[in-house]
Amino acid sequence: MAGPPRGLALLFLVVSCAALAAASRPSRENLDVSIGGGGGGGVGIGIGIGGSSPAPAPSGLRPCDFENERLYRAYLVIQQFRQTVSCDPMGITPSWSGTDLCSSYKGFFCERPPNVTDRTIASVDFNGYMLRSDSLQGFINSLPDLALFHANSNDFGGAVPALSGLQYFYELDLSNNRLAPAPFPTDVLGLTNATFIDIRFNSFYGELPAGVFCRFPRIQAIFVNNNQFSGALPDNIGQSPVNYLSLANNRFTGEIPRSIARNAGTLLEVLFLNNSLSGCLPYELGLLEKATVIDAGTNMLTGTIPASFACLRKVEQLNLANNHLYGVVPDALCKLAFGRLKNLTLSGNYFTALGSCCWDLIKEGRLNVDRNCIQWAPNQRSHEECAKFLHQPKSCPISDYVPCFHKFRFFGQPAGAGALEEKNAAAAAAEEEYRYRTYSALHP
Ligand SMILES: *[C@@H]1O[C@H](CO)[C@@H](O)[C@H](O)[C@H]1NC(C)=O
Ligand SMILES: *[C@@H]1O[C@H](CO)[C@@H](O)[C@H](O)[C@H]1NC(C)=O
Ligand SMILES: *[C@@H]1O[C@H](CO)[C@@H](O)[C@H](O)[C@H]1NC(C)=O
Ligand SMILES: *[C@@H]1O[C@H](CO)[C@@H](O)[C@H](O)[C@H]1NC(C)=O
Repeated sequence: MAGPPRGLALLFLVVSCAALAAASRPSRENLDVSIGGGGGGGVGIGIGIGGSSPAPAPSGLRPCDFENERLYRAYLVIQQFRQTVSCDPMGITPSWSGTDLCSSYKGFFCERPPNVTDRTIASVDFNGYMLRSDSLQGFINSLPDLALFHANSNDFGGAVPALSGLQYFYELDLSNNRLAPAPFPTDVLGLTNATFIDIRFNSFYGELPAGVFCRFPRIQAIFVNNNQFSGALPDNIGQSPVNYLSLANNRFTGEIPRSIARNAGTLLEVLFLNNSLSGCLPYELGLLEKATVIDAGTNMLTGTIPASFACLRKVEQLNLANNHLYGVVPDALCKLAFGRLKNLTLSGNYFTALGSCCWDLIKEGRLNVDRNCIQWAPNQRSHEECAKFLHQPKSCPISDYVPCFHKFRFFGQPAGAGALEEKNAAAAAAEEEYRYRTYSALHP
């Protein structure tokens, strides 16, 4: 997270958009969340338009010149949008001419709707094209059969168009654009079939509406990082079946909602990183038994690490750095390193002691406890700094309860034990490629 890459990119665009090289950036492909059923057949496309007959095309092309009337109508919409593109450093728009939308128009992809013989525009993928237009109104919302719109790293301004009329729409990626500063676009909440909502690296502000966590029953990924969202996180966060949730680099305040425990069946990665969250580190985070990434670093969380964290048997990356945590780092937490845990970052807190297994992890470079108050550990805070913090009154409860203990009673230890089970799980994990998708989302 070095500096403000987006700001720089915009500056370059202002100076000369044509000078921009085709920098490859993480895009929707890199963040693919493998939609169940995979591609093709899942994309529903259907009838959208009835009434008004389209105006004649400026080029003189007529409906009968096209494969079908849907494509003719899409042609008109694309030509109109093309006129609004004021910057096209990669030379994309010249391909948007003629009657062959399905094979020669860069960024447009056709599919055949179920029960319909006609092909039509089903997805638009402009990832990394760096096109500039002041508005998307009248474009994506006027392609009635659209299921996907990916526009990572373009220079699109204005408001998010009203898309909820698009009955087949399910993936929206407007990340790293120049959309007008605005509250969360409420129309997006109407996309009830959405599986992917990505508006990171824009200028959205205000509170995240509760609808984000209850209006999308099929949602897999929600990326709202690197905006200016503020206020408390909605209490109903646990209502969402989301797998990948990134809230990082905003200005959220208040506590991590305890309802997060209800995400235990689905949440795989969650980033609270770099907000202003406060209150006690909740016991409920330890219930996220499927999570591979939990990052609550750089907030103002306090309290001790709840014993429930020993139940995070799938966690690989756990970051609690730069908070106001204190007490003993539980031995059972460090024992997770016998399983999946690869990186435990606790630096910049006020911990005073470590469980015995933790010392080995430091040697292996898997545990960072710099800038704490731990005797004998290197790079600790000064005595004055530690004394000042440790004398402040503490109100967080000490949570000793290990909720998964009964599940593993035959193996003794809640974590680290169960070698056979762990071996099988490791084999399964090898097949599945973990790429820490939420961490990829922290780059524009
Ligand atoms: C598509 O056709 C099938 C079988 O003919 C039918 O059951 C279904 O309702 C149709 N779907 C739509 C959206 O028309
Ligand atoms: C969501 O999908 C269902 C069935 O696939 C469809 O009936 C419904 O209209 C869609 N919802 C929206 C808001 O498009
Ligand atoms: C942390 O968040 C603040 C506020 O949103 C932002 O200005 C800052 O750039 C972020 N820091 C990093 C390292 O991304
Ligand atoms: C461990 O995680 C921290 C915090 O997310 C990160 O800064 C660091 O680079 C990671 N270390 C390794 C070796 O992956």
